[in-house]
Amino acid sequence: MSFDKELINWYLDNKRDLPWRRTKDPYQIWLSEIILQQTRVEQGKPYYFKFLKAYPNVLALANASEEEVLKLWQGLGYYSRARNLHFTAKYIAFDLGGSFPASYKELVKLKGVGDYTAAAIASICYEEPQAAVDGNVYRVLARIFGIDTPTNSSQGIKEFRQLAQKVINKDEPANFNQALIEFGSEQCKPRRPLCGSCPFVTTCVAFNQDRIGELPVKLKKQKIKKRHFNYLVYISEEGKTIMNQRRGKGIWEGLYEFPLVETASEAQLENLVADVPAEYSVINKEPVLYNDLPVVHKLSHQHIYTKFWIVKCDELPKEALSLAEVNKLPVPVLIENFIDTFDF
Ligand code: ADE
Repeated sequence: MSFDKELINWYLDNKRDLPWRRTKDPYQIWLSEIILQQTRVEQGKPYYFKFLKAYPNVLALANASEEEVLKLWQGLGYYSRARNLHFTAKYIAFDLGGSFPASYKELVKLKGVGDYTAAAIASICYEEPQAAVDGNVYRVLARIFGIDTPTNSSQGIKEFRQLAQKVINKDEPANFNQALIEFGSEQCKPRRPLCGSCPFVTTCVAFNQDRIGELPVKLKKQKIKKRHFNYLVYISEEGKTIMNQRRGKGIWEGLYEFPLVETASEAQLENLVADVPAEYSVINKEPVLYNDLPVVHKLSHQHIYTKFWIVKCDELPKEALSLAEVNKLPVPVLIENFIDTFDF
């Protein structure tokens, strides 16, 4: 039997009953695919339900504020996904009259929709034969077809996409693409794949050449950067504090945080005081370190070592916020964990 047919048969026998597999509505498929980028299915599911409940259609999402969308996204990470989701919802609702683009070519033009997501939506919703190649798919193809081109090189991206496009089942692209993703996630797992029960065991190059551990090949990631964050948690007599919104292209754009002093190495009280900018003056106040050991927050390319410094003061500027107001803001998980454990 051909690869595509064998794969679809495996899928029909083994597929999980996932909520986004019960619909062909492009809004719901788009939402699920954006959530599932860089997120495991079990982590993504509650967010999928939360978003559909709050915003059952693209117009509802378009009418929300960005702050509300970021708050609902809180904890999923890679927040540009949420900002792009909201931007594109507004574009579809207000510039395209609410009708979802209905082809790969149109979908890929949307902000936040790359090659993979456009192919996933076009195949699942409109049965357009476009191969959707994600991390799972690289692994399956690299192993079964014995391809050692690095999956994160431009040559690799091109080669894997061409191969997937060559082997896709043109009559059932929705099932084929989902089958490939599901097979990578459930059978041809990164570690300890289930080769004993694999329908491709006789033809799989990696299995037959004992190269399962070697494939797929990935170029080494850039070195992880260490950063040192110091948050100044001001507390006035009325129990208010100061929060700032992060701007610019760095991490957590649009989320809120306490006034931040970033230092080149781990700060002690003396050098912290010297590094605090004038507008956050701590002179005549005594910042008290809350956590002796920095909290380590790991992102894909950087590890953030964070100290929280409590700065009690009589009065704060009028933009200071109460705890109830702070709790409504979208914040990084690192800040949320602090707020949950600190007794304001
Ligand atoms: N990962 C990315 N897209 C997915 C999907 N549609 N089903 C399961 N896992 C996925």
